[in-house]
Amino acid sequence: MSLFKVYPLNPIAITKAAGSHVWDDKGQQYLDMYGGHAVISIGHTHPHWVKRIEDQLHAIAFYSNSVVMPIQEQLATALNEISGKKDFQLFLCNSGAEANENALKLASFHTGRKKIIAFKKSFHGRTSLAVAATDNPSIIAPVNETENIIFLPLNDVEALVTCFAQNANEIAAVIVEGIQGVAGIYEASDIFLQAIRNNCDEYGAVYIADSVQCGYGRTGQFFAHDHAGVNADIYSMAKGMGNGFPIGGILIAPHIQAKFGMLGTTFGGNPLACAAALAVIEVMQKENLLPAAAEKGAYLIAALKNTLGVKTVRGRGLMIGFEMEDHLQDIKKVLLNEFKIFTGEAKPNVIRLLPSLSVSMQEIDLFLEGLQKAVQQLSKTA
Ligand SMILES: Cc1ncc(COP(=O)(O)O)c(C=O)c1O
Repeated sequence: MSLFKVYPLNPIAITKAAGSHVWDDKGQQYLDMYGGHAVISIGHTHPHWVKRIEDQLHAIAFYSNSVVMPIQEQLATALNEISGKKDFQLFLCNSGAEANENALKLASFHTGRKKIIAFKKSFHGRTSLAVAATDNPSIIAPVNETENIIFLPLNDVEALVTCFAQNANEIAAVIVEGIQGVAGIYEASDIFLQAIRNNCDEYGAVYIADSVQCGYGRTGQFFAHDHAGVNADIYSMAKGMGNGFPIGGILIAPHIQAKFGMLGTTFGGNPLACAAALAVIEVMQKENLLPAAAEKGAYLIAALKNTLGVKTVRGRGLMIGFEMEDHLQDIKKVLLNEFKIFTGEAKPNVIRLLPSLSVSMQEIDLFLEGLQKAVQQLSKTA
């Protein structure tokens, strides 16, 4: 049987990882500034994370959500504490798309309404409603097409206000990434997020903060939306939550009430996933990874702005996008093949950096050195 080919693949087989490094099957070491697509939050194979999962595996890996699970309560308490969203409720699932799917469904149940405001260039996942709210027609199957999604330009307060006024009591929710990731690292402005909050309050709609990529401490605050000083009604989370162990979830404001049967899952919140997620929060707290992400990100952004060949730099904390001058468009390939550094990308020409929050200053300098050398090499051949 062959694999269903949905990804263009680098011909590299990664077989080992530790901290911010990975190794291929031939023993070649790579610096990972991509974090497996923003997933590695506390560092690959962090010893505390490995031990917690191992211990849990020996106790019990799985039971269904038909019994009380103290480890889920522990995770809810830990999340309340680290996020500062004190009275919020937790629903656990397995991925980012699922988290958004549940968030949108819950908003519709809560308001009894159907229409969703999403934004141009957004990405919310590949399940039916999440993909419908994603601004990329090429990944929306005919069966997912719906007229219930309204796409507006990001950061356009006037368009938002007009849309709410025109659809007064039909809008169930606004879904917005604090920083658009897949689009190429575009920040929602504080004023815009505050306008979303105000309009949701005025019209009784639910504010959904898609924090799957920009959340979990990546920007230096637990949620990127926190920089704007607003509280969302629902936060969706995944990627960094399990440091590579599949887990997602939504944090739900206290005024949204649960009813039996509203949401459900077989695997969501299983003990093994909860152990991984608890280990992540424990390491984040012990190693002060949130302030570290802010500090190291600021250093990296400032250094990139002074790097020859870099045209623009965007982002916050360790969620960074930059564009190179036109003759340097092969930089990602050169960084990987010649300098053994993994980076991410966003089409057409954005390099995305999403390293572990525990990446060291030396590793950041190693990356900057590699980038400078790659620029020199490409400039010679241009
Ligand atoms: C902002 C955002 N939301 C949702 C998702 C979907 O997450 P998953 O791939 O875990 O379903 C992603 C994935 O890249 C994302 O970046």
